[in-house]
Amino acid sequence: MSHDAGAADTADANGAVGGAPLLEVRDLAVEFRTREGVARAVNGVSYSVNAGETLAVLGESGSGKSVTAQAIMGILDTPPGRVAGGRVLFRGRDLLTAPEEERRRLRGERMAMIFQDALSSLNPVLSVGYQLGEMFRVHRGASRREARDRAVELMDRVRIPAARERVNDYPHQFSGGMRQRIMIAMALALEPDLIIADEPTTALDVTVQAQVMELLAELQREFRMGLILITHDLGVVADVADRIAVMYAGRIVETAPVKELYAAPAHPYTKGLLESIPRLDHKGKELYAIKGLPPNPLNIPPGCPFHPRCPRAVDICVRERPALEPPAPGRTSACHFREEVIDDRA
Ligand SMILES: Nc1ncnc2c1ncn2[C@@H]1O[C@H](COP(=O)(O)OP(=O)(O)OP(=O)(O)O)[C@@H](O)[C@H]1O
Ligand code: SF4
Ligand SMILES: [Mg+2]
Repeated sequence: MSHDAGAADTADANGAVGGAPLLEVRDLAVEFRTREGVARAVNGVSYSVNAGETLAVLGESGSGKSVTAQAIMGILDTPPGRVAGGRVLFRGRDLLTAPEEERRRLRGERMAMIFQDALSSLNPVLSVGYQLGEMFRVHRGASRREARDRAVELMDRVRIPAARERVNDYPHQFSGGMRQRIMIAMALALEPDLIIADEPTTALDVTVQAQVMELLAELQREFRMGLILITHDLGVVADVADRIAVMYAGRIVETAPVKELYAAPAHPYTKGLLESIPRLDHKGKELYAIKGLPPNPLNIPPGCPFHPRCPRAVDICVRERPALEPPAPGRTSACHFREEVIDDRA
């Protein structure tokens, strides 16, 4: 393995209950070979998600949220990217080493992904009904007519008004919010066990964002799917997620049930993120901004990667990378002072 394996990250980060989690990512490393050198975009990520659970993945731009998702789904841009180590266990089967045929089946049928930009994910020259129906023709051997009927049903499911009349329309004839509903319908078509949604509402107006997110959360509960929700929006997270994993410089730095994380973060980076959002109950208090910039993946600082920006940093932080360990049951934090941070209710 070519990534820095100096200090051991504890693998099962999330206190999964009831046997093997639906998806478990262990110490995943992804690097990109660039002209300037090797960019370590994902540096030992470990997280897991259970059936019926929503895990939100949070972190600044460039922290490796999307690249992790791409490696899980097998859609990494290779080259220049490559998985440099780790495991991606889906119901216990390693998607990185399973035979090609099995991998394709699992990723094509049991897992689905929703992207931010529906317009570039849908084919502009095919009707949405055709594209939805194709899932049933290809994977379920449905006839054209059956496929069309299933497409209409799906459009109804995601509450596209007048679905039967609109089934022959093209993507550009739908609004952004409706297109994103169509993307959700596509993802749901084969009733997958896991959906990864990468900033699924970022491109939409605020009111439409809330509606689409509500729909996704509702369908997730109804189908009892595991959902990995990648988002910048801490408000959304509080409403729909069960647990949060916070990423920094290609690693998970904290995981916790949502309420616990909001009430008392156990990592200074999480604390900074929470203090930098406006809150109704904190009126008048000045907003805190985390100083400095996230590290360049070509040159990640030694020791704790957050140390150049951390208000608590001391000598040991520069020398030793903290492992991801529990400061309390069901939680993890990669900070040498995790217990003190969690107790610090300033
Ligand atoms: N094709 C690529 N070639 C080189 N580097 C890449 C490539 N794709 C991603 N990276 C690098 O990997 C790192 C992680 O990127 P990633 O897209 O996962 O970030 P992210 O957390 O999803 O950020 P955002 O919130 O902006 O979507 C970044 O530093 C990025 O520059
Ligand atoms: S280990 Fe040190 S630098 Fe890193 S987050 Fe904790 S206090 Fe800050
Ligand atoms: Mg991203």
